[in-house]
Amino acid sequence: MSWDAAQRGEAASGELEGEIDLADALQPPWLPPPLPPPPVLEAPGAAAAVCASVPVRVRTEQRVQCGGYEIVLQTIDADNVEALRALNAEVLPVTYNDAFYTSVWRDHGPELSCLALVDGAVVGGIACRLEAAGEAGQQRVYVMTLSVREAWRRAGIGSRLVEAIAERAAAGGAAGSMCLHVQTSNDAALRFYGRAGFHVHARIERYYAHNRGVDPPHAFFLRRLLGPRQ
Ligand SMILES: CC(C)(COP(=O)(O)OP(=O)(O)OC[C@H]1O[C@@H](n2cnc3c(N)ncnc32)[C@H](O)[C@@H]1OP(=O)(O)O)[C@@H](O)C(=O)NCCC(=O)NCCS
Repeated sequence: MSWDAAQRGEAASGELEGEIDLADALQPPWLPPPLPPPPVLEAPGAAAAVCASVPVRVRTEQRVQCGGYEIVLQTIDADNVEALRALNAEVLPVTYNDAFYTSVWRDHGPELSCLALVDGAVVGGIACRLEAAGEAGQQRVYVMTLSVREAWRRAGIGSRLVEAIAERAAAGGAAGSMCLHVQTSNDAALRFYGRAGFHVHARIERYYAHNRGVDPPHAFFLRRLLGPRQ
């Protein structure tokens, strides 16, 4: 499907191209994967063992040049995840719950999410997860949230965030593609993702129907193959 056709809404509702599994596509992005049940404390000393099992994430930073600015790409951990929450609350129409933000730093690899900072201030952020792609053994990177503060847009920061995750995923070899849902009316994001090499795979009617105030509630499912740019 071309971008122009997608914009005009010419695609049949739910039309699929390629090998996308619509059941996978219908998993709402605002609901993180279910968390494992809490451990049962059975014996003295068990609490210490449970504490020791909580992953300690060592924060790493990468400095990149972007639109004339030096951007610091910072991995997300328990101490800076609130900055991602504040950014998303400012920029996105959907509110994500505590379990979502815990899962970002605890359940998904540090290479799958990061903040973008300029002079110590958070200006953007991306959070992704790795999920089954539907084909045997295949995985894909799903973009759960991508946000750039309004004053910092059109400086290449959103592109840099997407490329950072794409490069890490491609280098690790774990995922063959990157995908996401976007509201059908979000022209800026559609143009952004088109420029970043994504294609429309499906139009899903009422995808955001459970998110009050998200109007229109329809979404496009977008995908980009990883590796050499398609
Ligand atoms: C979508 C978003 C992340 C883009 O971030 P950004 O840092 O402004 O994007 P970039 O500067 O990397 O843009 C790269 C290219 O995408 C296209 N693009 C980006 N924003 C655009 C807009 N508002 N209108 C048209 N094209 C746009 C342009 O081709 C741009 O290149 P150019 O500036 O040289 O013309 C940002 O607008 C945003 O946070 N929007 C609100 C949240 C959102 O919609 N998130 C995605 C939902 S899944």
